[in-house]
Formats: sequence, structure tokens, C-alpha cells
Amino acid sequence: MTTASSSSSSAASPVAADPVVCRPVGIVRSRFTEATGMPIQTAGAPEETGRLDVFPEFAPGLRDIEGFDYLILVTHLHQCAHERLEVVPFLDNASHGVFATRAPARPNRLGLSIVKLTAVEGTTLHFSGNDMMDGTPVLDIKPYVPRFDVRETGRVGWFGAKLDQLPGIRSDDRMG
Ligand SMILES: C[S@@+](CC[C@H](N)C(=O)[O-])C[C@H]1O[C@@H](n2cnc3c(N)ncnc32)[C@H](O)[C@@H]1O
Repeated sequence: MTTASSSSSSAASPVAADPVVCRPVGIVRSRFTEATGMPIQTAGAPEETGRLDVFPEFAPGLRDIEGFDYLILVTHLHQCAHERLEVVPFLDNASHGVFATRAPARPNRLGLSIVKLTAVEGTTLHFSGNDMMDGTPVLDIKPYVPRFDVRETGRVGWFGAKLDQLPGIRSDDRMG
């Protein structure tokens, strides 16, 4: 295991605390214009559609994307006003450490949404399964590959039986 003290670094090398600057590769277009009253996970709203307008300069990066059923979108939940370390998540009434949740009010406000790719039209990716507000910046797109991304487990911490509520549950204003 590498520890902070044993790893080599120079003044020119990034260290863990340095800010990281990212640029969006595209923008989500969605019918949701407010963070309240919308799906909390794409798996809970497979019927909700949206599209990702990828910026033209990233077009070459889309080659072969039509060969995948699902994509992983790494998003910036840009309208989230707060970064919290402890939150009461949408699926619970009790507080948890934010890294034990999928709450948007988290350090760096990064989201991860798995969407079903339904059509590719130039640099526009149409998808179903949507938990993203209109205008959400997308920082990266990755193909969903079950062999890489699925682990069979029933050990899901505090989520437990609360996951049964997922299809009906919608966000409220608690992250505001
Ligand atoms: C619980 S987060 C989950 C996001 C992602 N699926 C994840 O697990 O990282 C989804 C919620 O974030 C909020 N949200 C979605 N897009 C947002 C945005 N661009 N800015 C701020 N909040 C957003 C909405 O309240 C939505 O219900």
C-alpha cells in the first residue's frame, strides 16, 4: 500500500488537496427545471426521457457509442446550493455520512447516472431513465459494461428495504 509519506512528489506534481478543473463535454436537456419533485435515481424512473447534447468538439469521442444499451454519465449537480458531509437523504428520515448516500449536496456535487441510450442523432444522445435537471453539465460519458460495473450483493447498508420505495419517490427541498 502506498502512503502519503512514502509517495514521491515534487512541487510540479499535483497533490491531493489541489483543485481539479473539469470542463463539461455536454449538457443534459430534460423536462425537470427544479430540483424538487423529480426522480431521485434513473432506476426509479425508466420512463423519463432526456437528451444529452454533446459539444461538437467532442464528436470524435462518440464513435462506436451506438453499440451500447446503457451509458454512465458523470455529472455536475450544478444547481445544488450546499456541500454537506452529513445529510438526511431522500430515502430516509435519519442522517448519514454523505459518502454513504447518493445525495446531491456533497463535496464537488458530482452525480453518476446510468441511462438507457435510445438513439444517437449526430452529437445528441437520446436516453431514458432520467434524474437530471435541465442544464446539468456532463463531465464524462462511459459505456456501461455489466462485467465491469455489476456486483451481485445484498449488502446495501441503510438503504435496505427502503429501496422498495424507489419507483414512487420524488425529491423534495431538503438539499436546498
Ligand atoms: C439523489 S441525486 C442522484 C444523482 C445520481 N444518480 C447519483 O446517484 O449520483 C438526484 C437528485 O439530484 C437533484 N438534481 C438533479 N440534477 C441536479 C442539478 N443539476 N443540480 C442540482 N441538483 C440536481 C434532484 O433533486 C434529483 O432528484
